[in-house]
Amino acid sequence: MKQTVIELLINEAIKARKMAYAPYSGYLVGTALVVPSGKIYTGCNVENASFGLTCCAERTAIFKAVSAGQRHVDAIAITGGKVEDGDMDNITDFAYPCGACRQVLSEFLPESCDMDVIVARSTTDYKILRLSELIPYTFDL
Ligand code: THU
Repeated sequence: MKQTVIELLINEAIKARKMAYAPYSGYLVGTALVVPSGKIYTGCNVENASFGLTCCAERTAIFKAVSAGQRHVDAIAITGGKVEDGDMDNITDFAYPCGACRQVLSEFLPESCDMDVIVARSTTDYKILRLSELIPYTFDL
């Protein structure tokens, strides 16, 4: 994955995190994924007073992409954490995708058969993981 694409995805995820609707947990998550054409889709978490209805940022982005006709995702960047000292840009956590989101992502692998999952605190502080290492055995029908 090109360095420019990695940085673009992280920057888009950081921007998307600012849109998070997380009044109950205070934990803001932003994501940005790229499809083979190079188009980027972003997402944030959307909470609800009925807590179980909350949608994670990863699923927001993937549902946007799939509902626009996309079926393959090359990479997704994830940024998440509570707002520290009122500074939205100070992201101290590495936010790994939850199990449900790993399973959902696993249905939209690229031709190369694995997806890069970038967990980032900033454009210079990130890890690149493979979806297959995060969820080696997916549920399938
Ligand atoms: N959350 C995500 O957006 N993605 C994950 O993979 C795990 C958790 C959100 C859901 C909830 O709004 C907040 O983080 C705290 O759980």
